Amino acid sequence: MKKCPACFKTEDNEAVRFCRHCGTELFYPERFGEVNKTIDNTTSIRTRKWCNITKGSKNKSMKIRIEKPSDYPQVECLVKTSFATNADDDGTTHEYLNELRTKSVFIPDLSLVAEKDGKIIGQVVLYKTDITTPNGIKTELLLSPICVHPNYFRQGIARAMIDEALRKAKEMGYNAVFLCGDPKIYSKLGFIPSYKYDIRHITDPTAQWSMARELYKGALAGLSGTIDTI
Ligand SMILES: CC(C)(COP(=O)(O)OP(=O)(O)OC[C@H]1O[C@@H](n2cnc3c(N)ncnc32)[C@H](O)[C@@H]1OP(=O)(O)O)[C@@H](O)C(=O)NCCC(=O)NCCS
Repeated sequence: MKKCPACFKTEDNEAVRFCRHCGTELFYPERFGEVNKTIDNTTSIRTRKWCNITKGSKNKSMKIRIEKPSDYPQVECLVKTSFATNADDDGTTHEYLNELRTKSVFIPDLSLVAEKDGKIIGQVVLYKTDITTPNGIKTELLLSPICVHPNYFRQGIARAMIDEALRKAKEMGYNAVFLCGDPKIYSKLGFIPSYKYDIRHITDPTAQWSMARELYKGALAGLSGTIDTI
């Protein structure tokens, strides 16, 4: 789905931007520029011209790519190191990831790594998950796990990986991504509690930590159901 770099419009009229430095498509333009109301009250978007990856000049040489089987040992090491900083983690996330890769819900093209100077410094996985609705099962995506090497925390790497994973997911025809996570972090990454879309966690219908992000505006409108994000 190519976008016009001149007018920044897609066919469905959704504004998008490209990073002027590296060409990365900026998935959610409102995150990258100020939205201004003009005199006649229409909305214009004044964009920044670079993406999160380019913005962090420290990480100029970083690239985000699909994970390969030959990356698995390095990713396992990263997951162990990174999750060791999370007080709520039980130390088994690397085992969970190894098992996930063997299941039918795993989508290799939606398992991404961030690589810098030949080293893997971040990973994110989106895999298939079921929403139980009154009209049957609807399959969307769950984000888990995600981690960044502690030396690179708070440099926009998780954000850049999520933006890229969600861009690919949208291209593949998915509508929304769910996760179980800390609302303090994920609210900054465009997620809101899933019950606000009337998609409720099976054990806690108003859980703040069961979160969702639409891949386009209105993607979850009219849908209701339950999900198991853990
Ligand atoms: C959670 C994690 C992936 C975030 O990665 P990161 O690359 O540091 O995140 P980013 O720099 O892209 O930050 C994205 C947003 O989240 C916010 N954020 C990141 N870490 C945060 C924290 N510990 N507390 C509060 N907000 C946080 C940032 O402020 C940023 O928002 P902003 O741009 O509006 O300031 C990383 O801390 C990590 O790997 N933790 C260990 C593993 C883990 O716990 N994974 C998540 C399990 S649910």
